[in-house]
Amino acid sequence: MRSETAEPETGASLALYLRRETRSAHDRVESSAFARRVAEGRLDLPTYVAYLHTMQSFHDEVESLVSASTDTHVRNLWREDMRRVPHINDDLVALERYASGMLPIIRSDPFAAFSGSVGTSPKRLIGLLYVAEGSRLGGRVIAQRLLAAYPDLGRSGLDYLTGYGVTTGKHWAHFRRSLDRLLLDDGGTAAALDGAQLGFDAIAVAFAGLGS
Ligand code: HEM
Repeated sequence: MRSETAEPETGASLALYLRRETRSAHDRVESSAFARRVAEGRLDLPTYVAYLHTMQSFHDEVESLVSASTDTHVRNLWREDMRRVPHINDDLVALERYASGMLPIIRSDPFAAFSGSVGTSPKRLIGLLYVAEGSRLGGRVIAQRLLAAYPDLGRSGLDYLTGYGVTTGKHWAHFRRSLDRLLLDDGGTAAALDGAQLGFDAIAVAFAGLGS
C-alpha cells in the first residue's frame, strides 16, 4: 500500500523514513506464495532457480538504470560492488542441472515499468536501490532455509544470497548512513519512497507466481 498520508521528513533520517513507510509493502512480499514456501520449509531447488531468474530481472533493470543515471544523488549512493547480477549469473551456472524442473517464468515482466517511472522521476532510483540492497537481509533467511533442506549444497549456488557474508550487517549500516547523507528535499524524499514502493510492489507480483 503506497503511503499517501505521511509527510516527508526533510532533515530527518531517510533510512528510517523508508523503513517505516514501506513496512506494509515488505509485509506483502513476506506473505507472498514464494515467501510462504520459504517460511514453511518448502523451498526446493527448482523454485530457488526460478527465484534467481526473478531477482536477475529485478537487479538487471535497477543496475542498468543506475548505470545510465546522471542524477548526482543516485551516483553518490551507488558503488560498483553493489552489483548483484554477476553473482546471480554464477549461481545459475552452478545450479544449471535444476533448471529443468523450474517453475514457469512469468511472461509479463513486472520490472519493465521501472524504466518509465524513473524516466519521469530519477530519484525513484534511490528507493529502488534501497529495496535492492535491503534484499540482502531477507536473503540470509532464504540461504539458511535452503541449506537446512540441502545441507550438501555448501556455498554452491548461494553466491547471490551470501554476498557480503558476515559483514552484511556492517554494509547495511553503511548504506543506511549513505542514504541519510543525501539530504534530499521533500520532493526527492517523496520520489525515493515512490521508488521503494514500486520495487516492493513489483517483487510481490513476481513472487506470487513462485509457489503455492
Ligand atoms: C522470503 C522473503 C523475505 C524475508 C523472510 C525477509 C526478511 C527480512 C528481515 C528479517 C529483515 C530485517 C533484517 C534485519 O533488520 O537485520 C528484512 C529487511 C529488509 N528486507 Fe526483507 N525479507 C524477504 C524478502 C525481501 C525482498 C525480496 C526484498 C527486496 C527485493 C526485501 C527487502 C528488504 C529491505 C529493504 C529491508 C530493510 C528494511 C529496513 O529498512 O530496515 N526483503 N527482511
